[in-house]
Amino acid sequence: MKILIASSIDKSAIKELSQEHNVICAFGAPEEELKQLIMDREILIFRSGVQITADVMSAAPDLRLILRAGSGYDNIDLDHLLDRPIRFIRIPGPGARAVAEMSFALMLALSRNLFTADHQWRQGHWVKQKVKGQLLAGKVLGIVGAGNIGRRTGSLGVAWGMDVLGCVELPRPETHAALRERGIHPATFEELLAQSDFVSVHVPLQESTRNMIGAQELALMKPGSILINLARGGVVNESALCEALRSGHLAGAGLDVHEHEGEGNISPFAGMSNVILTPHIGASTVDSQRQIGQIIVTYVKEAMNQTPEEALAAEKIVVV
Ligand code: MLT
Repeated sequence: MKILIASSIDKSAIKELSQEHNVICAFGAPEEELKQLIMDREILIFRSGVQITADVMSAAPDLRLILRAGSGYDNIDLDHLLDRPIRFIRIPGPGARAVAEMSFALMLALSRNLFTADHQWRQGHWVKQKVKGQLLAGKVLGIVGAGNIGRRTGSLGVAWGMDVLGCVELPRPETHAALRERGIHPATFEELLAQSDFVSVHVPLQESTRNMIGAQELALMKPGSILINLARGGVVNESALCEALRSGHLAGAGLDVHEHEGEGNISPFAGMSNVILTPHIGASTVDSQRQIGQIIVTYVKEAMNQTPEEALAAEKIVVV
């Protein structure tokens, strides 16, 4: 099959696919280049960091399968995809645990001032008396977007001895019951902001969530609290967050996702020692990416063995 891989995925999956198929790799290519490369392709594989626009997909009349090697779908034109006989496989499962653990990595590093302590000691400064941390146990953790990833983060919080609150966009009795089953207390967005010592954001980027944490919401947050964003850059307003950190209202932030991502961009938080910045690596564990790679290989095999009729009859959107 003719495959275009538009983002860096697990190397062993690329190797396996390349042995049997005609594979082109163009990681993070701009739209014009993608439009050229995709022309004769039947399968497209992508992650974050590329824009799969309607124009890109329109350039590929034979496209029949798109695999999203992860969770987010804010960088693909879903309306165009749904109008075409193209199958869409999303693979959010394997990365969820990695993102949940990353939320804890950021919370722990910020609450124990690890980066400052490390930086000082490397320069010979023994800051034992100055660097005082705080426990996560006994603190309130608020999960904004208690879905697939958010619930896992919440469960880790419960195991850590935190009091966990969770809010969802569409609160339903069964959703609340599922949260309670994990020891997560359902709350409204506003209650959660006002009561949490740590707020971890896990919503998809869409019209209803763009800038959902701006100046007003940050003002609602507890003085001295910490914000973790592992969702998407557009969900938290960066200038409002800069101000909340500068004024000392928030004690710190852990940001894995950013308004402007990619090589050469400098974050507006780059000069702040109470902010940890990482380059969108929440789901980037070897284990999770290997699992995603294996799932991709399986679905490509399935597509190869399908008759056109079987392909048309197959479930159009699959979430693994
Ligand atoms: C995802 O949506 O799965 C994550 O943001 C990881 C990624 O695609 O880079």
